[in-house]
Amino acid sequence: MPTQQILSDPAKAAIFLTLTINESAEEKVADILTDVSALGRAVSFRVPDGDLICVVGVGARAWPRLFDAPMPKHLHEFKEIKGDKHTAVSTPGDLLIHLRARTQDLCFELANQLMNKLGPYTTVVDETHGFKYFDERDLLGFVDGTENPEGKAAVTAAVVSPEEDPNYAGGSYVLVQKYMHPLDEWNALSVEEQERVIGRTKLADIELDDDVKPTNSHVALNDLDPVDGKERKIIRDNMPFGTIGTKEFGTYFIGYAADPEVTETMLEHMFLGNPRGNYDRILDFSTAETGALFFAPPVSFLDDPTTVESDSEASDQEDTSSESEDTNESHESLRIGS
Ligand code: HEM
Repeated sequence: MPTQQILSDPAKAAIFLTLTINESAEEKVADILTDVSALGRAVSFRVPDGDLICVVGVGARAWPRLFDAPMPKHLHEFKEIKGDKHTAVSTPGDLLIHLRARTQDLCFELANQLMNKLGPYTTVVDETHGFKYFDERDLLGFVDGTENPEGKAAVTAAVVSPEEDPNYAGGSYVLVQKYMHPLDEWNALSVEEQERVIGRTKLADIELDDDVKPTNSHVALNDLDPVDGKERKIIRDNMPFGTIGTKEFGTYFIGYAADPEVTETMLEHMFLGNPRGNYDRILDFSTAETGALFFAPPVSFLDDPTTVESDSEASDQEDTSSESEDTNESHESLRIGS
C-alpha cells in the first residue's frame, strides 16, 4: 500500500496544523480528507522541484467519528507523562496536518487550500510555522536529526508492516510536542555544559564518548537498546520556530514510528528518567506545551476509507465464508488492503 510520504530528506520549511473536528461535522470532514492527496498534487505540480509533502494524521477520538473501519492496532490518546519535575502534557487534537517543502510559500499555499475546505468544520488548536536553522540546527544551536535511521532501517522504524497490522500497512504513528525554550537561560550555559546536556559536540556534532557523556544527556536517554534483536528507533523531523518580538522560541518535535510505544518509551526516559529520577537535562530548558498522538494512514485509505472493511462487514464475510466452507464452495476473501 502506498504510504503517505513520511520519509524524506529534512525539509527547509514546515507548517504543523492541529485541528479538532466541530460537532456534527464528521461526514463533511471525512469527505474532504479524500481530496487531500489531489489538493497536494495540484499545488506541488506547479513547482515540481519544491518537494512539497503533506501528511495527515488522525487522532484516536476522531477515528471512530470519521470512519467505519477498525482503529489502527496501536492508536490511542496520548497519556500525560508526569515526572518529578517535568510533565509531557496531553492536549487535544483530532487531525494533524504536517506540511513540508523547500520553501515556506508552498506549505502556506497548501495549508490555505486545505483550510479553505476544512475551515468551516474544524477548529485550529495549534498552528506552528517551522524553519530549518543553519546547517540543520535547532534553536539550541545543535545539529538535529543526525541519528535518524536511513534506507531500509528508516522504513522498519517508521512504517507499519503488513505483519503488524494488515489493514493499515504503510501507515505510521505520529507523535507531536511543541516545546518552548528559555533561550536566555540556555545561552548563559557554557558550550561545554550545553554539550553535556545534549550528549554531542556543538560545532562538529560528534557524539561524546561514553565515559564523558552524562547519563541524563538527551542522547543517552533516547538511544534505546534493541529488544529481542529488534531496533527501537523513530524518524524525527523537528523544526525550530519563534517570534523575535515576544522572545518565544521553540522546537516542534515530530516523531514517526511503526509502533508508538517506542516514542512513548523515549518520553518516559526523558520525563520520568532512566533510572527513575535521572530525567533528561534538556527538559530544564524545554517545556512541552502540547502533546498528541495520531495515525497517518496509507494514501489508499485516505483517498477511499472503504478500502478497509468495517468490523461488521468483516464478521459478515466470516459468516459467509464459513457457510461456503460448509457447502464446500470455494471462497476468495475480499480483504482489499490486507
Ligand atoms: C537526538 C534535539 C526532543 C528523540 C537529538 C539530538 C538533538 C536533539 C540536537 C542529537 C542529534 C540527533 O541525532 O538528532 C531535540 C530537541 C528536542 C528534542 C531540541 C525538543 C526540545 C526529542 C523527543 C524525543 C527525541 C521528545 C523522543 C520522544 C531523540 C532521539 C535522538 C535524539 C531518538 C537520537 C538518539 C541517538 O540514538 O543518538 N535530539 N530533541 N528528541 N532525539 Fe531529540
